[in-house]
Amino acid sequence: MVEKARIRQASMSDVAEIIHVENETWPLGEAATEEMFRSRIEVFPQGVFVAEYQGRLVGVVAFQRMHYNLDTPISTWREATDNGMTRASHNPEGETIFGIDLSATPLAPPKTGTRLLAEVGRYAIYHNLKRGILGGRIPNYRQYSNRMTPEEYLEARYARGEPLDPEVRFYKRAGLKIGRVIPGYFDDPDSLSYGVLLIWENPFYVKNRVLVALVKPFAILGFHIYLRIKM
Ligand SMILES: CC(C)(COP(=O)(O)OP(=O)(O)OC[C@H]1O[C@@H](n2cnc3c(N)ncnc32)[C@H](O)[C@@H]1OP(=O)(O)O)[C@@H](O)C(=O)NCCC(=O)NCCS
Repeated sequence: MVEKARIRQASMSDVAEIIHVENETWPLGEAATEEMFRSRIEVFPQGVFVAEYQGRLVGVVAFQRMHYNLDTPISTWREATDNGMTRASHNPEGETIFGIDLSATPLAPPKTGTRLLAEVGRYAIYHNLKRGILGGRIPNYRQYSNRMTPEEYLEARYARGEPLDPEVRFYKRAGLKIGRVIPGYFDDPDSLSYGVLLIWENPFYVKNRVLVALVKPFAILGFHIYLRIKM
């Protein structure tokens, strides 16, 4: 059996290594900076997790909480995240999780990205949040852009029914739904800067606050079983 990465909450002392992970993972000029991660951990320490494997960091995920209405379009990553710093964008009362950053290096054991994402799901379930959303990249779109619009690209499937884009496949397998295209979302030449809204509705969310305490143990158990089956 392949050894798994250990997922844990990040601390300030991880920042230098997190930046190493970022630089190994993202195309040139797209990685988050040290200033961004210092700010994210300071603003919302529970919103940054790292994956540790054989004594080094191989992955990181960062998210914030916000109020969000699905009918209101997200404009750009920079606007939604206060330029990646989260000072003005994180709302501790927000009922929606907004994914800011997810990275797993080529050295990370398989499923590290999915397991980091699951940690965000665990947070949402534990805190009874409505949903998680993020703007995903579509890094293979450039190869198809002379043949189809980004909307057509997102709808197109391989014969076995999977989306053409590796990143969209990744999020779809993790249970997220594909939403609308967001032009100019993130400066990424491979995606021609198009993003796609990805949505996960928390199946355990309960509106009635009195019911929360009753439902929570079942929600946590249900999620645990789901992870055991999936990973
Ligand atoms: C997306 C990412 C976190 C996935 O991490 P991971 O540990 O490889 O994920 P898993 O092992 O759980 O899943 C593997 C799947 O990731 C998908 N994937 C997503 N982006 C990918 C990429 N750039 N290259 C290869 N596979 C990618 C593929 O669908 C792959 O499955 P497949 O090979 O069967 O098609 C990682 O590839 C990464 O850091 N990419 C660059 C940064 C990025 O784009 N982050 C997401 C921002 S929205």
